[in-house]
Amino acid sequence: MSGVTRTETVPAFETNSEKLNGGSIARSAGLLLEGKLVAFPTETVYGLGANALNPDAVARIFVAKERPTYNPLIVHVADTLAAKALVLDWPEAADLLSEVFWPGALTLVLLKRGQVPDTVTGGGPTVALRVPSHPVAHALLRSAGIPIAAPSANRSGRLSPTTSDHVLRSLYGRIDLVLDGGPTSGGIESTVVSLVGGMPRLLRPGLIGSAEIEAVVGPIERMLPLHSNLDSAALLSPGMLDRHYAPRTPLELTADGPQRVEELGSQGLRVGWLRRSDTLEAVSESDRVIRVEMRRDAAGYAAQVYAELHALDARGVDRIVVDAVPETEEWLAVRDRLQRASVPE
Ligand code: TXA
Ligand code: MG
Repeated sequence: MSGVTRTETVPAFETNSEKLNGGSIARSAGLLLEGKLVAFPTETVYGLGANALNPDAVARIFVAKERPTYNPLIVHVADTLAAKALVLDWPEAADLLSEVFWPGALTLVLLKRGQVPDTVTGGGPTVALRVPSHPVAHALLRSAGIPIAAPSANRSGRLSPTTSDHVLRSLYGRIDLVLDGGPTSGGIESTVVSLVGGMPRLLRPGLIGSAEIEAVVGPIERMLPLHSNLDSAALLSPGMLDRHYAPRTPLELTADGPQRVEELGSQGLRVGWLRRSDTLEAVSESDRVIRVEMRRDAAGYAAQVYAELHALDARGVDRIVVDAVPETEEWLAVRDRLQRASVPE
């Protein structure tokens, strides 16, 4: 671990300019090649990067995040060609999906080649691959010329970071550098789909909807629902452990926000409330309640939700109350994250 963590600011618009070649991107690439840890923005959330082909560097990610070593990492690559170089088999579904969704927020799980270290894959035979579209991530991959293993840049089980500040709050002193490219646009993580075995299988809902994926590749198997069979879910994708993506503050998901907020307020608790309503309920305005108006559409909500939860954590409220979101497929990824965040510690 490095003791201090440097921050370098890389406005996304600079990534195409000559200036960057001798600048932050090149320095970050150099650190990665030395086996160091660099956090960087992607279009979903910030990732904590290490050289995916260097087992010692990858091991440092697990230490910094306090992540269980059985939970495998996503490997980020510059393009489809670089992805193919890391796998034994490239099925037709991989062609179809990468063609449409890469660069972008889709992660594909495929059979790995021997050169992908076991530390990356949790000892398993598969590797998760993604070509990110964020210009900073892309420039970093090009400059370093290596695959970059990068989980979300947060302590294990906690909220993913959508700004460099969130990264620092969670990992300061544990990593070598943060590339600050401003807030990420997607707000939640990529969709993870396994192409190993029979039908493509959704392992983690994410920014790209299942319907969009099915439009390209035909029917996919849905992931196991929350709480269904933890052991087998964890076996398929260990990141699907129940409690996850959680703020430090206890979070409740409720169908009746106004009433719950009143109740908690009357117990003298300071409450943060992620509110989804067009109507003005009779909840008394008080300094015990911080109301946060959430966007009505799923993509807008996703872009906003982690940042609001980070902000409520930082303000030190006693409880976070979240109005339930629609039960439709469009909201699957957001619902998944909120449900996991609400599982008690
Ligand atoms: O948007 C994202 O995916 C972000 C950015 C940084 O790319 N990354 C991210 O990584 O969310 P992480 O490590 O927080 O989540 C990766 C998920 C976990 O649920 C993990 O279990 C699953 O992907 N995963 C990784 N490799 C796998 C594999 N070989 N088989 C099944 N699941 C895998
Ligand atoms: Mg994560």
